[in-house]
Amino acid sequence: MDAIEREILFNRARSWVLQAGKLIRDRMDDPLTVSIKSNPKDLVTELDKEIEYFFATNIKRFYPDHLLLGEEGYGDTTINKKKTVWIVDPIDGTMNFIHQKQNFAIAIGIYNRGIGEIGYIYDVMNNMLYSALRNNGAYRNNIKLPPLSHNKLLLKESMVSFSHRWLIKNKFINEKIMQQLVHDVRGVRAYGSAALGFARVAEGALQAYITMNLEPWDIAAGQIIVNEVGGLTTDITGGAIQFLENSSVITAHPFVHDLLVSTYLKKAIK
Ligand code: IPD
Ligand code: CA
Ligand code: CA
Repeated sequence: MDAIEREILFNRARSWVLQAGKLIRDRMDDPLTVSIKSNPKDLVTELDKEIEYFFATNIKRFYPDHLLLGEEGYGDTTINKKKTVWIVDPIDGTMNFIHQKQNFAIAIGIYNRGIGEIGYIYDVMNNMLYSALRNNGAYRNNIKLPPLSHNKLLLKESMVSFSHRWLIKNKFINEKIMQQLVHDVRGVRAYGSAALGFARVAEGALQAYITMNLEPWDIAAGQIIVNEVGGLTTDITGGAIQFLENSSVITAHPFVHDLLVSTYLKKAIK
């Protein structure tokens, strides 16, 4: 993909993300059709599916050689990793969407030969669009996000985000060590949208977001955006996240990342 094609792709994806966001806002007060997926906490609405379908039809019309990996089933069944792959979460934070009508995002990552080129996270109800084009920095709407400082940061000066699930007995991580972490940091927040967790880290509102099991569409956009401001995204042992695999995730300010991995997460993993 040459620079001009990449720029066109970036602008087209932006316009589709904004259109999809408007579609959601326009339908916000319609009655929702909610279905349960794997368990009663894993929900999907007709609108999740419609938004993914909107991306699928546009992608196939303008880019028939591109592939789509989507959460809701309109994507390609086999993905050739060497091609251009759109990784789409039409609504990230569906539970928030249903219960709160806010605090959810559209997340799109576009990868070429496994390299993240373009990332969009759209906080729909706040009309806040986070974007990144590889090696061109990250933006919130039209404002460039400053690089995360490489200064030493103390944990007691840091805000981190993770779910309460990791503070009670669970199969992934020792809850006692996570409780100690709550004690040691300045504050803990849980947003209920992985994409918004990445966005908060990218804009410096959080120093870390940690979670135990994300799907590729939860990670794809955020990883590109955080990367562009000098943040680090790995699994919780500090290892690279494998393209198109699900994974535990820590995305963070680089100094805080290393501190959290070595002092807490490596010891806490089951
Ligand atoms: C979920 C949200 C949630 C995270 C879950 C995801 P969905 O995505 O990002 O914050 O904890 O692991 O599955 O289902 O709302 O798209
Ligand atoms: Ca998601
Ligand atoms: Ca989703």
